[in-house]
Amino acid sequence: MQIADVIAAGCVMPVIVIDKAHDAPALGEALLEGGIRTAEITLRTASALDAITAMAQACPDLMVGAGTMMTAEHARQVRDAGGCFAVSPGATDALIAGCAAAKLPLLPGASSVSEMMQLGEKGFSLLKFFPASAAGGVDFIKALISPLPQFQFCPTGGISLADAPDWLALDNVPCVGGSWIAPRDVIAENNFTTIKQNAITAAALTKQRS
Ligand code: 3PG
Repeated sequence: MQIADVIAAGCVMPVIVIDKAHDAPALGEALLEGGIRTAEITLRTASALDAITAMAQACPDLMVGAGTMMTAEHARQVRDAGGCFAVSPGATDALIAGCAAAKLPLLPGASSVSEMMQLGEKGFSLLKFFPASAAGGVDFIKALISPLPQFQFCPTGGISLADAPDWLALDNVPCVGGSWIAPRDVIAENNFTTIKQNAITAAALTKQRS
């Protein structure tokens, strides 16, 4: 599997902060039932790795990856947990090497043209644009279509249901990420009905785009 396969699975990737690993199977089921095929579980909580394992085992049809990847050790941990891809807010040589060693496809983050060019030199053409709204918004990524046509972006950070279509209208944005599909507090409440409904709404964005 390559990171392109993850991006091709849908144009909205849920970014998940989860506090209890035992909530992960029901969360994964809600996403799948809503038509979502990918989940990025951020390594921001003590239960994140266990949640990756639980979701991946319970939901084999869901591509379960890890977000907030920072180190090569994270790459080893995520691989061992059963995660199948990695997303990082920025990129370091150590992280890139660690993901390669772990055979973990990486969507590396960048927020400047120089960072993008450096990642291009390392062979990356699919990048996360983070923090999307604060780092320049839709106009920034739109301005890159002509000078940097080799890149496609998954913007994440500050994107909502309301402005996701503006991002997805850009030729260089196949996918957006966001926590609005499965907010941390809604997961904690075990309100999987709301999460499923959010997933249906998010999956419908895919259909509207095509
Ligand atoms: C994050 O940093 O958690 C992700 O980029 C998602 O950001 P969001 O909560 O603004 O959607």
